[in-house]
Amino acid sequence: RKFLVINGPNLNRLGKREPGIYGAQTLEDLQTELVSFSRERFMDLSFEQSNNEGDLIDLIHGAENKFRGIVLNAGAYTHYSYAIRDAIASVDVPVIEVHLSNVHAREEFRRESVIAPVTIGQISGFGFDSYKLALQVFHNQLKGDTL
Ligand code: DQA
Repeated sequence: RKFLVINGPNLNRLGKREPGIYGAQTLEDLQTELVSFSRERFMDLSFEQSNNEGDLIDLIHGAENKFRGIVLNAGAYTHYSYAIRDAIASVDVPVIEVHLSNVHAREEFRRESVIAPVTIGQISGFGFDSYKLALQVFHNQLKGDTL
């Protein structure tokens, strides 16, 4: 019942960074909300952030045999990191891709996700709720409820 939330580059700047797009709440606020959301569902949550591609890859590799699922906001790496895509494909842990903003309603380059094909799905555009929806999916799967 252990799950891992990974935030990629620039997400440590939440609250300061383009608040019109990403909101005024911080990464710490996100962590607080997700920890209580998980506790209510008896899920055990770990929370990580890195601005470095290699560190994100190491976190994904390290999740095998430790976590039942990963919620990943890979930030801009989403759009071009074949290395992160290959890392996801290399482990036997389901990954859900999340985005705060609706990546399909912004610049053209954000429409493509090179990681989406190796994830079980993508949730984009709902702010902190994107992460909660992803955790709810994992929770439903634990219950055998695939609704
Ligand atoms: C993001 C969307 C990406 O395009 C962007 O590079 C980010 C954040 C989001 O959560 O909306 O850093 O992943």
